[in-house]
Amino acid sequence: MGSRKSNAGSAAPAVLLAIVILLLVGSTLYFHIAKTWWFPPAITPVGHEIDQQFFLTLVVTGIVFVLAQLALAWMVFKYRDHGQKAHFTRGNHALEVIWTTATLVIFVGLGALATHAWGQVHFGGVEPGALQVEVTGVQFTWTFRYPGPDGKFGKIVPADIDASVGNPLGLDPNDPAGKDDIVVPDLYVPVNQQIELMIRSQDVIHSFFVRELRIKQDAVPGLIVPIHFRVEQTGDYEITCNQLCGLGHYHMHAMMHVLSQADFEQWEKKQEAQNAQ
Ligand code: CUA
Repeated sequence: MGSRKSNAGSAAPAVLLAIVILLLVGSTLYFHIAKTWWFPPAITPVGHEIDQQFFLTLVVTGIVFVLAQLALAWMVFKYRDHGQKAHFTRGNHALEVIWTTATLVIFVGLGALATHAWGQVHFGGVEPGALQVEVTGVQFTWTFRYPGPDGKFGKIVPADIDASVGNPLGLDPNDPAGKDDIVVPDLYVPVNQQIELMIRSQDVIHSFFVRELRIKQDAVPGLIVPIHFRVEQTGDYEITCNQLCGLGHYHMHAMMHVLSQADFEQWEKKQEAQNAQ
């Protein structure tokens, strides 16, 4: 054991560590404020609401993050080794209670504020006159079905499922309601109209995900899960599968084409004419 003096540490490691912490905080702030890696713009009213909620959460937790890291950098520097004797502390009950309560209030509060957007997605109920489209996930493709001119989806018979004969969904050939059903590999929807998707799976759990919709919904075998939304702008958006569903998961995707009302009607007519042939 040397004397107290020879034990005195250098300030250099503490200063360096404090600087590294400040640099990490600075670069984290920069990439978030500059939105270097950001999501594409939302295209639904609920999507904008979810983005606002996300932003609020990011700001609140961001402030806590920056304050905590600055305090850490300052502590690292202030309480560096300068030869003093370390002493044991049992902590501070008042501080423990304060930051636990503050964390609870912030998290429960942010959760409560988010219930409106979340409720709209899951419990909002679909507007009358919504366009219904059935979405089926199967390793490793998406298939979309429209009820056709009669407005009725035909019966599905699992034994009839056979993509090689052009019947990937197993439409019952004896059900007249299914004769005019439109079955396509991409989703076409009109802009500014309520859309209701009925999500199904033929095999394992898949997940329907369109980043711009801010909606992600599992496709579960044996269930028909409805989701609804209204898109505000036309365009082409990628639909991906968001559950690891097998070796081909990475290439399980389709496109969502949002068309003007006129273009959509034209597309629908074309499909109907093809069906009638
Ligand atoms: Cu389907 Cu991943």
